[in-house]
Amino acid sequence: MIQPEMINPAMRSKLLRPASSFEEAEALSRQLSLLNRAQLARLIALATPETEASLRAAAGWLREHYYGRKVYLRGLIEFSNVCRKDCFYCGIRRSNRNVRRYRLTEAQILACCRQGYELGYRTFVLQSGEDPAFTPLRLAWLVAEIRRRYPDVALTLSVGELAAADYRLLRQAGADRYLLRHETADAAHFASLHPAGQTLQQRQTCLRELGAAGFQVGAGFMVGTPGQTADCLAQDLLFLKELQPQMIGIGPFIPQQDTPLGQDQPGHLRQTLLLLSLLRLLFPKALLPATTAVGTLHPLGRELALGAGANVLMPNLSPQEYRIDYALYDNKICTGDEAAECRVCLQKRVESAGYTIDTGRGDPVDWEETGS
Ligand code: 5AD
Ligand code: FES
Repeated sequence: MIQPEMINPAMRSKLLRPASSFEEAEALSRQLSLLNRAQLARLIALATPETEASLRAAAGWLREHYYGRKVYLRGLIEFSNVCRKDCFYCGIRRSNRNVRRYRLTEAQILACCRQGYELGYRTFVLQSGEDPAFTPLRLAWLVAEIRRRYPDVALTLSVGELAAADYRLLRQAGADRYLLRHETADAAHFASLHPAGQTLQQRQTCLRELGAAGFQVGAGFMVGTPGQTADCLAQDLLFLKELQPQMIGIGPFIPQQDTPLGQDQPGHLRQTLLLLSLLRLLFPKALLPATTAVGTLHPLGRELALGAGANVLMPNLSPQEYRIDYALYDNKICTGDEAAECRVCLQKRVESAGYTIDTGRGDPVDWEETGS
């Protein structure tokens, strides 16, 4: 069993019993942010159900303090599954011949936005593979058009690695946020998950350029990818500390049968939840989604993720007929549901877990629009 003094003597009492106030949770959060790579790795590797409960309780206090019981909704539009990248874990990788490729038209994407707006969503996330047909100029037009039609929504893009000038163009066109997971901050592990030519360095450069372009930035990683160690995860936490993104998306790795990692084991729910609590403690004001992947791993995965510190949900707004084709991993949930059904389902889930849906833009608590 983990002895808290093995990590850091000062954390001993804080890890032995759950925090009973915001102040105690803040103290634990401060202690955690002093840990070095080896200490973080030990904490991750050796966590027991008791330490997990302490971290979860403290994460709950911080979340409550900054965001109350609110859960923000982001309407996700997966507008193309064409991708020029070949990540070994991903079901829509270029080499997968078993994918029925699709691309929504601008009119279809705008129709999704209309439906989402009517369902009360005030954030749209436009996500796709790295599809060369959606050039930065074409995306910029789309962003500007959505912005014109819905001035009160926050617009998030998640379309992969682009040149710095393209990020600036999209920001100027009116996009507010950008999601680009770094996947893993361990260069060797990154290389084991991607073909030559895709590098961690390039990914990290893109993330810094997105910040410089004035985006609210979302980074993140998968939990339990084959070969990942506690040390890899410690490096993820340290990289995020340096980057200071506004949003951090994590979820378990789930194999997809047509990929090179299709026969590997999925990530663990417990470890995913532990990392969510650690993220809440290290980044108290961050927006942390309870991802579809964690909901796929366990029927109550998203509710458990909210309990561990998450405060965002990203229901699917894509047309139902295409959802099955955006299969990053096997058995993805919600592929058979209509947008309106997902909305009702989520409302019930959030409320039964003791939270409330907030339909606002859901900016970070301390975010001030710089207009840069
Ligand atoms: N399991 C879990 N998550 C995956 N992603 C891609 N493939 C998988 C998989 N097999 C995640 C990656 C990517 C995001 C869009 O989906 O982290 O950044
Ligand atoms: Fe999509 Fe429940 S969230 S059906």
